[in-house]
Amino acid sequence: MATIISDTSRTFSEYLLIPRLTRKNQSIESVDLRSPLSVVEPNELPRFSVNIPIVSACMQSVSGTSLSIALARQGGLGMVFCSQSIESQAEMVRQVKSHKAGFVTSASNTTADTRLEEVIRLMRESGHSTVPVTDDGTATGKFLGLITDQDFWEFEDDLDNKVCKHMTSIEDVIFGVDGISLREANNLLHRHKKDCLPILDAAGNLSSLVFKKDYVDHRRHPLEMLDDSKRLCVGAALNTHDYKERVPELIAAGVDVLCFDSSDGFTEYQMEGIAWIRANFGPEVVIGGGNIVSAEGFDFLISELGVDFVKVGMGGGSICITREQKGVGRGQASALLEVVHRRDEYFSETGRYIPLCSDGGLANDTQIVIALAMGADFVMMGRYFAMTDESPTPKTSINGQMYKPYWGEGTHRAQNWQRYSDGMSSRKMMFEEGVDAYVPLVGSLAEVLETTLYKVRSTMVNIGANSLANFRESAVLTRVSEQSVVEAGTTNVFQFSRNREFEEAEWGNTG
Ligand code: IMP
Repeated sequence: MATIISDTSRTFSEYLLIPRLTRKNQSIESVDLRSPLSVVEPNELPRFSVNIPIVSACMQSVSGTSLSIALARQGGLGMVFCSQSIESQAEMVRQVKSHKAGFVTSASNTTADTRLEEVIRLMRESGHSTVPVTDDGTATGKFLGLITDQDFWEFEDDLDNKVCKHMTSIEDVIFGVDGISLREANNLLHRHKKDCLPILDAAGNLSSLVFKKDYVDHRRHPLEMLDDSKRLCVGAALNTHDYKERVPELIAAGVDVLCFDSSDGFTEYQMEGIAWIRANFGPEVVIGGGNIVSAEGFDFLISELGVDFVKVGMGGGSICITREQKGVGRGQASALLEVVHRRDEYFSETGRYIPLCSDGGLANDTQIVIALAMGADFVMMGRYFAMTDESPTPKTSINGQMYKPYWGEGTHRAQNWQRYSDGMSSRKMMFEEGVDAYVPLVGSLAEVLETTLYKVRSTMVNIGANSLANFRESAVLTRVSEQSVVEAGTTNVFQFSRNREFEEAEWGNTG
């Protein structure tokens, strides 16, 4: 007969934290959110840590190059999806690694013969007020000059005029040359009171641009995730079918963290994959395994001492229909609590600390806090990042509101890439485990994350904790009744300020 466990499958929204003593010397700003991503061996330091406990989901509609760059700059880690060819995934990793903080490839360019009217349209659509002029109108063409919105009067000048009539020509532009350091570039901007510095190669072609506003931005984000060579850090996902070809390419591209991406990681395929990577690339490579939802799954993944971190979660993702389609999964809080308990036992037995990632189903900032309090070392989120400017999908207007498409990796849409990839086209997809949806656009990743992290730190201060380890040791949680969920919202008042727009801006909760 099947075993029926006595525990009910529970979610994060069924728990609340009880405040503990807040000390006078604690400040929200001083709370340390660093978290290990690699196994911590007795008396050793982790080989890899993140500065904030947040990584992006390995999904096509989430973790592209721009999002991975933006998240690494905030202290987290992007996990570039593997539902694409090995070459394009490795190229994304290379782009993140070669992104020179402060040096950006120009996204809006024009030619000297273009009409003013077209440049104005370009500026409006892109939001860029400085546009380089190159011989072929590309970001790497021969540099001829710059045109900015200060170089013409839209309602006075003839909009049929050519760009060359209004632009600042190269002879009068202050520029840097390839090889210049960011510090030197910023010094030039400062000395010449400029907002934008074009960087040219030896042949006079445009390489990149350095902006004054990025300097200010950099000063504001000291948690940036940089490797020993001062390059941004990035992770990448693996599947259990082509890792023997994929891993060497990703490592050659400079990836920092590898992670199997599977709704069910309690499989011999994954164990074989981890063992193969260890045998071929040694103990230094950081590898995550999962997903699992039980102590048994945890024991299996760590049994060969191969995995660095374990991802917990099945069926909780916002676009996920695995539980509905297959009848497998577990409430995220129950899954996490059981695995944390086993992880802590394992630590007492061996002295080895295995970081845990709570993956999927986090519907708001409170649930991030609860996951961390319950013992997750970091969280993985999809919807949260899909809603930001930096996710790889286009903005779409629906009924006057801006949205972005967001789809699961278990949809036909995501799995279509295999058709174009050798050797995998024969695997037929019989049913979908995810849906294809839209999420509201909430703005830049930096802005959204700033609020989230402030809330996380602020709750930690309520518990008297100044680090995540301290937080999970001190946390006391209580289960909530349905009535106390009602009580947690506002009751019997009419609010003017807390309107729908505000709620959407927080997390896009339209329900
Ligand atoms: P979210 O943060 O709630 O949107 O959940 C994101 C997580 O959902 C990912 O990190 C995956 O673990 C999971 N996921 C992604 N695509 C699918 C799918 O198609 N079906 C089921 N789960 C998925």
